[in-house]
Amino acid sequence: MSNDQQSSSFGKARMDKRKLESIFLFVTGKCNSKCAMCFYANDMAKKENDLTFDEIRKISESAGHFNRLWLSGGEPTLREDLPEILEMFYKNNHITDVNMPTNGLKPDRVIEWISRFRKNCPDANIVISLSFDGFGEVHDRQRGVPGNFYKALETLHKIDAAFNGDPKVIKNISTVITKFNIDQINDFMRWIFGRFNTSSHIIEAARGETREDGVKILTEATLRIIQDAASPYYCGYAERFVKDMSGFKKMMARNMYLGTYRNFYNIRAKNIDGPTPWGMDCTAGETTLVIDYDGRFRACELREPIGKVQDYDCDIQKIMFGDAMKKEIEAIGHGAKANCWCTHGCWIMSSMVFNPVKMIFNSMKGSKEMKKLNHPIDISDTALRALEEKYQLDSNKLKEIGII
Ligand SMILES: C[S@@+](CC[C@H](N)C(=O)[O-])C[C@H]1O[C@@H](n2cnc3c(N)ncnc32)[C@H](O)[C@@H]1O
Ligand code: SF4
Ligand code: SF4
Repeated sequence: MSNDQQSSSFGKARMDKRKLESIFLFVTGKCNSKCAMCFYANDMAKKENDLTFDEIRKISESAGHFNRLWLSGGEPTLREDLPEILEMFYKNNHITDVNMPTNGLKPDRVIEWISRFRKNCPDANIVISLSFDGFGEVHDRQRGVPGNFYKALETLHKIDAAFNGDPKVIKNISTVITKFNIDQINDFMRWIFGRFNTSSHIIEAARGETREDGVKILTEATLRIIQDAASPYYCGYAERFVKDMSGFKKMMARNMYLGTYRNFYNIRAKNIDGPTPWGMDCTAGETTLVIDYDGRFRACELREPIGKVQDYDCDIQKIMFGDAMKKEIEAIGHGAKANCWCTHGCWIMSSMVFNPVKMIFNSMKGSKEMKKLNHPIDISDTALRALEEKYQLDSNKLKEIGII
C-alpha cells in the first residue's frame, strides 16, 4: 500500500456506513497465458463476447461515486480500449484507486498505459500488480508460457525505472503459492525485495477451481510457516511505505501497515483447511460488485453469478438494490447468522475497512506479532547473486534487461 492508497482506503471508507466501495471488472475473457492455477480458466473457455465499450459506459454512468476499480480478466493488457475505460471511470465515478493486474507479457504497453493514466487521471493511484510466481522455469511452468519469467522481469524493471519516486504508482508483486513454487517463496521474496524498489508483495493461496488439478497443496500449518517466514519482508516494505513520514504519523502508519497484513494472513490461514468465521462480517455485495467479462455479476469472485448486467440495462443502482442482490446478501449473512467464509485476500482486506473497531484492535495485535517475527535479511549484492546462481538465472539476460 502506498501512502496515498492507505489514506484513500483506510481514511475515506473507514467509519462510513456500507456502500459501494469497489467494482471488480473483468475487462476481457481473452488471455495469452495458460496458468496451471488459474481460477478463471473455465470461464474464459466459454469464449463469450467481452462487454462492449458502450455497456461499460452505462455501468460507469450509473455507478455513482466509488473509490476503487479492480481490473481483472483474462489479461487486461489485451483490452485495446482499456485506457479510455479507465479515464471514463476517473471522470464519471471519481475513483481514487485502480488496481491493474498483469501477467507482464507486454512491457511497453504497460509503461505506455500507466504513463497515460498518470497524465490524464492525476489524482488517482494506480496499483500495478505484476503476477510473478517464482524463479525462471518455475514461473514459466506455472504460467504455461516459455520465456514468461524474463518478460515479466523486463516489465518490472521498466516500471521500476519509469515510475521511481512517483508515489501514485504502486508496484505490487502477486505470487500464487502452488506445488510448483512452494519451496522457493522465501528466496523469491528476498530477491524481489533486494533487486527492485517494489512497494508490496502479496503471497496468495491458490483458491477456487484451478485449470490443472492438484496444484493447491497448502494446509493451515504450511501456510503459516511461509507467512511467518515472510514477516521480515513485510517489515521491510513497511519501512519503504513510511519513509517520508515522521513522528507519531510514521509510527501509526507502520503499525497499521504491518497489522493489516498480519490480520489478513491470520484470517486466511484459519480458512485454508475449511471455512472458519473471520471475526467480522464479509461485506461482499454491499460494498463490492464483481462483473464478469461477459456481463454476469456476482457479490464476490467466489460465489456464483446472480444475473447479467445486460438484463438490468447495465444500471448499477438497479443491480445493487435489486432482489437478486438482496437475496445474495441475506444468503451470505451477517454477525451470528453469517455462513460464508473463504481465503480471498481482496474481500478480507476490503471487509476490514468496514469493520473499524475489529480492524484497529487486530491491527495493533498483528503489528506486534509481525515485529516479533522480524530479523535482518541479507540483500547484499553477493547474496542476491548467490540466489541468481542457485536458481540458474541467465546472467546475460539479466544484464540485457539491466538488472545486473
Ligand atoms: C485472474 S488474474 C487476471 C489478471 C492477469 N491475467 C494476471 O494473471 O495477472 C488475477 C490474479 O489472480 C491470480 N490468480 C490466478 N489464479 C489464482 C488462484 N487459483 N488463486 C489465487 N489467485 C489466482 C493471478 O496470478 C493474478 O495475480
Ligand atoms: S492467471 Fe491471468 S494470465 Fe494466467 S491464465 Fe489466468 S487470466 Fe491468464
Ligand atoms: S466470505 Fe468469501 S466467498 Fe463468502 S461472500 Fe465473502 S468473499 Fe465471497
